[in-house]
Amino acid sequence: MAFRFFEESAHVAAYLQYRVTPHELINKIIDFMGPKLQNKFNLAVDVGCGNGKGTVLLAPYFNQVVGTDVSPAQLGLARANSIRQNVSYRQSPAEQLPFESSQVDLVTATTAAHWFDRPRFLKEAERVLKPNGCLALLGNMMDRALEYGDATRFFFSQINK
Ligand SMILES: C[S@@+](CC[C@H](N)C(=O)[O-])C[C@H]1O[C@@H](n2cnc3c(N)ncnc32)[C@H](O)[C@@H]1O
Repeated sequence: MAFRFFEESAHVAAYLQYRVTPHELINKIIDFMGPKLQNKFNLAVDVGCGNGKGTVLLAPYFNQVVGTDVSPAQLGLARANSIRQNVSYRQSPAEQLPFESSQVDLVTATTAAHWFDRPRFLKEAERVLKPNGCLALLGNMMDRALEYGDATRFFFSQINK
């Protein structure tokens, strides 16, 4: 079940204006991934991408970046503000991603995973990720339980070093 709080144009415009972009966190993710994928980064998927301000930060590091979101209003802003050739957007729920299995190098969700059906999303992220691919959940509420074994705990212990 997807939550739909980002539907009104005034709401999404205010969000675009005041959202802080997570440059430093993106750099940490890339540093973390480098040795595992030998710096060959093909496809990143930013789930719950919203207006795409965080999505475009991935563009310099990947051949292709796809932002996904359930909100047409958010995706409309993302497309309108997109300046990167290798970034595109698709409407899709986090729990059913429009990618083949084992295709994606990095799945991110920035200030978004708390809205998802997390058990279904985590299973879906594992399906689309390549072996040694990376799932990065960024947000302000990481004291919430993550329900997928030790995988995400391991990641956060690494990235907080
Ligand atoms: C707080 S915004 C964050 C947007 C963006 N990642 C950022 O950092 O600015 C959360 C986004 O998640 C999207 N969302 C919520 N539930 C979703 C779901 N189940 N599947 C896909 N997107 C979802 C909302 O439409 C919204 O755009």
